[in-house]
Amino acid sequence: MSSVIWHVTMSLDGFIAGRDDSMDWVVAQWSDGGGNTRDVEVQRSAVADEVLQNAGAILGGRRWYDVAVRKFDGYKGVYGGQWAGPVFVLTHHPPGADHHPAITFLSGGLSEAVATATSAASGKSVIVFGANLAVQCLRAGLLDEIVVHLVPVLLGDGIRLIDVLDFGPVSLERTLVATSGQVTDLRFAVRRSD
Ligand SMILES: NC(=O)c1ccc[n+]([C@@H]2O[C@H](COP(=O)([O-])OP(=O)(O)OC[C@H]3O[C@@H](n4cnc5c(N)ncnc54)[C@H](OP(=O)(O)O)[C@@H]3O)[C@@H](O)[C@H]2O)c1
Repeated sequence: MSSVIWHVTMSLDGFIAGRDDSMDWVVAQWSDGGGNTRDVEVQRSAVADEVLQNAGAILGGRRWYDVAVRKFDGYKGVYGGQWAGPVFVLTHHPPGADHHPAITFLSGGLSEAVATATSAASGKSVIVFGANLAVQCLRAGLLDEIVVHLVPVLLGDGIRLIDVLDFGPVSLERTLVATSGQVTDLRFAVRRSD
């Protein structure tokens, strides 16, 4: 059955992006501002590879999309250029037609967006990007797993994994710990209360 996975890389102090949405702490070469991201040989963990191989669709929020276009070559930069599937972006303000054809903008609400992405994933997982949208999925009981790549750096500022959790506590079950060089890979199942 298709599962919905929040796949995220995080600093030790809990940021998923640094100041000005920087990701150069994940892949040093991205500090060029994204001009040449397709040429970057991205070192990923076996856990990340497995998540990617089993993924059938990506669901992101509008901020993720805007930053990806501005800094990381848009669709072509997703997962360092290794993503070839559908991407859904939830937004209140869908843009015109000038975007990559594999990207679909959705405005019909969270549950509908997750259902649309799940259907497109054809039995594979749906990957949720960013923080805002992912926390909404958690709140709505739509998230099955959280996969975190913990990077040994303290950023001090940026986008937090969770800014304020005004619901919960949310019980998680750690299902995997692995290392990939200096990065710690963590996999958690979200315990459902129902
Ligand atoms: N470290 C990592 O692994 C990782 C991965 C991906 C992204 N990132 C970073 O995460 C940041 C983006 O995440 P974020 O949390 O700031 O924002 P986000 O979740 O990408 O986007 C939030 C925006 O999406 C739209 N949206 C959210 N929920 C909606 C709903 N229910 N209905 C309609 N529209 C909705 C709204 O924009 P509108 O109202 O404008 O439509 C909202 O402001 C970027 O810095 C990105 O680089 C990090």
